[in-house]
Amino acid sequence: MPDSSEVSSDIAIIKQRKKDGIEIPLRNNVQARTTSTFLEHVRLIHNALPEIDYEEINTSTEFLGHKFAAPIIIDSMTGGTDEAIAINGRLGEVAEKYGFGMGLGSQRAGLKSEELAATYSIARKNAPNAFLIANIGGAQLAKGLSTDEARTIVKMIRANALVIHLNPLQELIQPEGEPRYKGVLERISDLAKTIDVPVIVKEVGAGISREVAVKLEIAGVSAINVAGSGGTSWAAVEKLRADVSKDRIKSRLGEMFWDWGIPTASSLLEVRKAVRLPLVASGGLRNGLEAAKCIVLGASMAAMAFPFLRAAAESRESAFTFADTLLSELKSTMFLVGAGNISSLSSSRYILTGPLAQEVSSHK
Ligand SMILES: Cc1cc2nc3c(=O)[nH]c(=O)nc-3n(C[C@H](O)[C@H](O)[C@H](O)COP(=O)(O)O)c2cc1C
Repeated sequence: MPDSSEVSSDIAIIKQRKKDGIEIPLRNNVQARTTSTFLEHVRLIHNALPEIDYEEINTSTEFLGHKFAAPIIIDSMTGGTDEAIAINGRLGEVAEKYGFGMGLGSQRAGLKSEELAATYSIARKNAPNAFLIANIGGAQLAKGLSTDEARTIVKMIRANALVIHLNPLQELIQPEGEPRYKGVLERISDLAKTIDVPVIVKEVGAGISREVAVKLEIAGVSAINVAGSGGTSWAAVEKLRADVSKDRIKSRLGEMFWDWGIPTASSLLEVRKAVRLPLVASGGLRNGLEAAKCIVLGASMAAMAFPFLRAAAESRESAFTFADTLLSELKSTMFLVGAGNISSLSSSRYILTGPLAQEVSSHK
């Protein structure tokens, strides 16, 4: 058993790491530099005769048996530090008010103490009816996080689903990372069979390939969030942390792999073709037009992390304004393609251009 001073120094280290995880993306540019989501290579078709009234556009949808007022998820982000209380609290309010889904950050920290658990559960307090998604890392599962601990994590926020995040790139660059992925798939499969909420597997910004998607479908997961490249780069975040700890090799690796990954649109298209599971698209989505493009390409839901973080870190009002803006962009896109509802949006025609078109035509 660790003594109480070890536990409190453990908690202090976790809090600092989680604080860095929020502050580094807010204070530095850790977005993709030389790559993109490839969503700019998706063209929706303008409809000069939409035959619908803007105010009648219905953005509601269903995902994993839950009703959403719009196909939007605030992607998994934070918890485990004092700063997260305000952010998760505000994002919880947004999820509740706008009928969005919301993911919490990796909750292993919340197992350490009641104080840390409260930095996550504030979201449920403010969002009694929203679809909230609990979060654990695949690497932690492989390392021995038990099914009972996973259940505690779900209970902590009375979650509607559990996300398992796959972050091999981040584990590689993170100064204290643990790039050990042996046995992860088997643990995912065990959890998908035993836990009584749907299991979603997501990346954190490097995308899911069709080969991985097929393995996850066979493992019995309920949905996949592709979280492709083109947005927040975790190689970049960890590179900046490696700079502070003067870890030159990790810093160099972070620089080299800053833009590594499968662009979000590429990942979404290849996974859509390979599996029947419902998909969430995320990674670099920054507005309602891009969210709409993902629905057209076959995603059930579109998720965003950094834009919600930036807005919620500023103020509660900024978080609401961002949600309003996002919805108006989504509805405007639906109006311009003549889609009165999400099902009509998802069957809209599109054209792929540039490297995305080339990639798709070269799929075997
Ligand atoms: C501050 C921050 C913290 C994050 N923490 C987590 C996490 O704990 N678990 C997780 O699955 N993803 C985490 N992510 C990754 C996001 O959920 C998302 O996959 C990724 O940032 C790409 O989306 P974006 O480009 O919209 O930011 C985090 C992202 C940000 C910006």
